[in-house]
Amino acid sequence: MDKLLSSRFNHESLPGDYIFPPELRPGDLKIPFSSSISVIDLSEAQNGDRTNTIQKIIKASQEFGFFQVINHGISENAMNEVRSVFKELFEMPEEEKQKLCSNDPSKKCKMFTSSVNYATEKVHLWRDNFRHPCHPLEQWQHLWPENPSRYRECVGSFSVEVKMLASRILSLISEGLGLECGYFEKGLTESVFLSINHYPPCPEPSLALGITKHSDPNLITILLQDHVCGLQVFKDGNWIAVEPIPNAFVINIGYQLQVISNGKLISAEHRAVTNSHDTRTSAAFFVAPSDECIIEPAEALTDEHHPPIYKAFNYKDFNSHYFAKYGNTDIVLKSFEVQKG
Ligand code: OGA
Ligand code: NI
Repeated sequence: MDKLLSSRFNHESLPGDYIFPPELRPGDLKIPFSSSISVIDLSEAQNGDRTNTIQKIIKASQEFGFFQVINHGISENAMNEVRSVFKELFEMPEEEKQKLCSNDPSKKCKMFTSSVNYATEKVHLWRDNFRHPCHPLEQWQHLWPENPSRYRECVGSFSVEVKMLASRILSLISEGLGLECGYFEKGLTESVFLSINHYPPCPEPSLALGITKHSDPNLITILLQDHVCGLQVFKDGNWIAVEPIPNAFVINIGYQLQVISNGKLISAEHRAVTNSHDTRTSAAFFVAPSDECIIEPAEALTDEHHPPIYKAFNYKDFNSHYFAKYGNTDIVLKSFEVQKG
């Protein structure tokens, strides 16, 4: 495996194998933040304005597939702690990080640079990544890194809080869609996978990418953005930037929620761009179904006037298909659509 970006010093010029073809390059990096991506105050849902909060969440999920949440109940202190542990992780000495690095596809807890397809991909991503499952905690925590020394405890308690936040948001979504209470409680949210992205300053940000255009394969993603901007959403043919808001989480709808809602909610395409000044570290908690879970449009949302758009499938099969077609966002869901006529 190639050396981690975070262990290579003096990124003076961008190596040729990081330059994307012109049609994929980010180009203009100064696109304005979009105020159209809703910022939803979750405390309002508790203070009697549940219906209004639900409406805002559903509207944002229909139009953008993205929204941000504030006053979500996870303390500022916990967020600062976990952010600093993630930064520390990538700032550890090379030998320490090498212990976590692996090319083994079956290994669930690992660090690598660019993507798991480093050896075969045409262009590399300007990022290092560390990922592992988080839930159930007892099953995975002992496989997490021993260093930084507070990693296990700090990330462990944070991931439990994130899972609870995801449940709260999903219960508002299920109510908004008209699904039975607890619809997302069991198999659909059995897995929580953490993926930490570390994007060092890049010498040529307009030619490189941190993550290429994709939609998330899971049910819903809870993203802890950095204070540094870099996340962009593709909306009506244009890229819009998601403003970093202190202590907010960015929430995005994954393909599974698009299928279950029978296309009512959308799983928007997004990417991460880099910049030449600041290191950016983001952490995505992917809430996902268990492998054997059967995914299909919810019965309550289909009838003879609203026939299911998607066929039933097994989440594991979807995932293999997703990774085989990675980045080809137009065709990922096509194989799971009901043929018309
Ligand atoms: C992802 C992702 C965006 C970011 O990890 O799937 O879209 O801002 N990350 O790092
Ligand atoms: Ni994503």
